[in-house]
Amino acid sequence: MSNAKPWGGRFEGPTDAVVEAFTSSIEDDKNIALEDVEGSIAHATMLGEAGIVSASDAAQMVAGLETIRGELEAGTFPWDETFEDVHMNVERRLATHVGEEIAGRLHTGRARNDQVALDSRLYLRRTLTAIEAALVAIEKALIDQAKKNVDTLLPGYTHMQRGQPVRLAHHLLAYREMFARDRGRVRDTLKRALVSPLGSGALAGTPHPIRRERVAELLGLAGVTPNSMDAVADRDAFLEAMSASAISMVHLSRFSEEIVLWATAEFSFVKISDAFTTGSSMMPQKKNPDVAELVRGKCGRVIGDLVALLVTMKALPMTYNRDLQEDKPPLYSSLSTWRASLEVTARMLPAITFDAARMRAALVEGFVTATELADHLVQNGVPFREAHGVVGRIVAHCVAESKTLEDLDLPALRTFHPSFADDAMEWVDVEVAIERRDLPGGPAKKRVLEAIAAAEAELA
Ligand code: ARG
Repeated sequence: MSNAKPWGGRFEGPTDAVVEAFTSSIEDDKNIALEDVEGSIAHATMLGEAGIVSASDAAQMVAGLETIRGELEAGTFPWDETFEDVHMNVERRLATHVGEEIAGRLHTGRARNDQVALDSRLYLRRTLTAIEAALVAIEKALIDQAKKNVDTLLPGYTHMQRGQPVRLAHHLLAYREMFARDRGRVRDTLKRALVSPLGSGALAGTPHPIRRERVAELLGLAGVTPNSMDAVADRDAFLEAMSASAISMVHLSRFSEEIVLWATAEFSFVKISDAFTTGSSMMPQKKNPDVAELVRGKCGRVIGDLVALLVTMKALPMTYNRDLQEDKPPLYSSLSTWRASLEVTARMLPAITFDAARMRAALVEGFVTATELADHLVQNGVPFREAHGVVGRIVAHCVAESKTLEDLDLPALRTFHPSFADDAMEWVDVEVAIERRDLPGGPAKKRVLEAIAAAEAELA
């Protein structure tokens, strides 16, 4: 076998087969093969324009690379395990299309260190753009359910204890806020990521009169990285993307956890359609919320992916070290898991039906307007701390008598405190309680409808 390795002449013997397998990144690199070709086309074009290679050589390189792109897309590209990575595979393949001499000029003014940094940034662009769309889809699905459930009331919980009444729409829009912030983090990541590291070479640039800005322009990137050493050693954009991914998976996991909980017989707040549940091989009665459980479970992996790269990076001296090849498995795992989890959850959302009657029943049993009664006393001049104590005793009385607050009347209230006014029992009404919370960010109907409109306008 001819020594096709990029380090050619320095070596006399072949690489040990076990080492070859151990150091190869080909399987992971398949994720960035198209980006590698795209980057090489821009580089070859620039080399021709700058007169570093002849116009005809550049044209043949580009044509050969286009052929390779077609092979990759058709799945016919002949990957060769002996060539270590995608960069060498593409260059060697180019030699079979356009000959050794022309293919051999492609790597002028470039190293694999700046090349792989570019490929990964282009990968981020493609993948994060799809993830942004998936985030929009889940936000829209949440808004759709919110619109159907403006008048569905349920207890809002703290400490998993019934707290105060809210609209289900308000609860669902809370998740919409989380995914909207996730989308902001994606955009923010791309803002810094989409610059070209090409021209940084192995670490100290190149003596050839390459045109870095032109390559960036050809690739639709916003500019070039400002420091050649940083450019080949930096993986911040991946860490940012994986942080956004981990945070967003935590949001998905919390939502999934509520769906699992609400699908229990104990809660019975939701039913999930058959298409998104599975049965048990042994227990015939089971209908399991596996999709939500798996999303919740996958969150662990995505957090692990972020931690894996942080730990890989933490003690790396400048500049490129082969350790950096370990950025790929966690990056691909994180972003593909995030995307799949967003997409399946967006699909599942319309398949969930909320049981308004069950939610309503939980409200009545839950003393969720106890705070209202205290606030009523406050409005009649009673200090809040005293009012809190009075209503606490009322609740204790109801619990002892197996009553709800709604079962009481004005004379009963007045036995606990003389300041209960004629309209005191109105304060026990959950709908009135919600409507009284008419402030920005609150659950009153008007505010929720405004929030839905604002969210829709943002996504339009
Ligand atoms: N597969 C390598 C990586 O992902 C490409 C860069 C190799 N550079 C080097 N100097 N060996 O990091």
